[in-house]
Amino acid sequence: MSKQTTLLDPIPLRAQFPALQREVNGRTAVYMDGPGGTQSPQSVIDAMGAYLAYGSSNLGGPFDTSRHAVAVNAAARAAMADFLNASPDEIAFGQNMTSMTFSVSRAIARTWRAGDEIVLTRIDHDANISPWLLAAEDRGVTVRWLDINPADCTLELDKLPELLNEHTRLLAITYASNAVGTINDVAHAVKMAQAVGAWTYVDAVHYAPHGLLDVKALDCDFLVCSVYKFFGPHTGVLYGKREHLENLTAYKVRPAPASGPGKWETGTQSFESLAGVTAAIEYLAEIGGPEGTRRERLVRAMERTQAYEVALSLHFLQGATAVPGLKIYGITDVERLDERAPTFALSLEGFTPQAVATYLGEQGIFVWAGHYYAIAIMERLGLLEKGGLVRIGFAHYTTIQEVDSVLEALKQFSESANSLKS
Ligand SMILES: Cc1ncc(COP(=O)(O)O)c(C=O)c1O
Repeated sequence: MSKQTTLLDPIPLRAQFPALQREVNGRTAVYMDGPGGTQSPQSVIDAMGAYLAYGSSNLGGPFDTSRHAVAVNAAARAAMADFLNASPDEIAFGQNMTSMTFSVSRAIARTWRAGDEIVLTRIDHDANISPWLLAAEDRGVTVRWLDINPADCTLELDKLPELLNEHTRLLAITYASNAVGTINDVAHAVKMAQAVGAWTYVDAVHYAPHGLLDVKALDCDFLVCSVYKFFGPHTGVLYGKREHLENLTAYKVRPAPASGPGKWETGTQSFESLAGVTAAIEYLAEIGGPEGTRRERLVRAMERTQAYEVALSLHFLQGATAVPGLKIYGITDVERLDERAPTFALSLEGFTPQAVATYLGEQGIFVWAGHYYAIAIMERLGLLEKGGLVRIGFAHYTTIQEVDSVLEALKQFSESANSLKS
């Protein structure tokens, strides 16, 4: 983080989010379900409404509203290119990350032969596992697994070289875990994969709201994310190196573009969502201040976000020691907070994760319970059949007071049950 960075103040930002003003049972709602989806500022809501109000159209018509749809489309591609440090023609949109991954994995798998190998990880969301497992089955390809260290839920990246060889075609790896929050050293993983000529497919869905993405620096072959996880609408985004997007054969209808990113966009896109994508990126860029290009503003915005979220994580971890029976999975060493997102998977002794989430929900605190589709890591931790874990996730609009309120609620719940027992 640069020395000039001032710590982010969530209060003026929160005022822009109508959903953050919601009351539940007489209390202001506390949104700690960001890993499942974040809220949107008014500017995103307005941009989506404005697109529809202007007049909807498909692309390519010789009239005003169609030209408008083309412009909205191009603006969203440019905005996402700034967010990822890519070129607009390397950005494709789709329904969500899962659908896009199923589609691209089929196209990539067409180039595989029996005897080829791929590497998957036990820390990934199932959306970056099942599409590859099915593709591997179709093509007679061997799947190798990169394991985690259960003590701190970090990926055993030092074991990756043992799994890679001249037959490896692909490494599918998440940037950050949507369950335990671990941030993986993806740049290092990409280098190791490149050393044997394997491609890398990076799931940046969970990382995107928490840190800077830079596909050029990573040099990954593909990267996917979902705008509803970073304050925008439900739209999936695929980055692919230009040569891959051009050379691979897409599953598409014949009249669809044969080249360019449109080749990877099946059917008609949600143009109102694309208007919202641009507004979400503009919202984030504003956090980085007025100076410089949009990319430079985004770089500063994500630095500020990361620094602020580390402060939230520190506060949470320090306060968590006072909650009886609370066990946090993943990195808890406060010296290593830059290795994790502010997403905490935890258990409370004597309660099911569902009971904890339900209790918090009654207090107006929104958290998740279960496996959140991160089934490989839940299985590895022996928790899949036991109801998984509670997941508490912070975003840049979370306040220290909200962190205190969830800690207090957890403490009360734990103590109330303990007092019933005695
Ligand atoms: C890490 C991660 N990857 C992939 C996905 C799937 O994203 P989508 O809902 O866009 O398909 C999620 C959704 O929660 C996620 O957290």
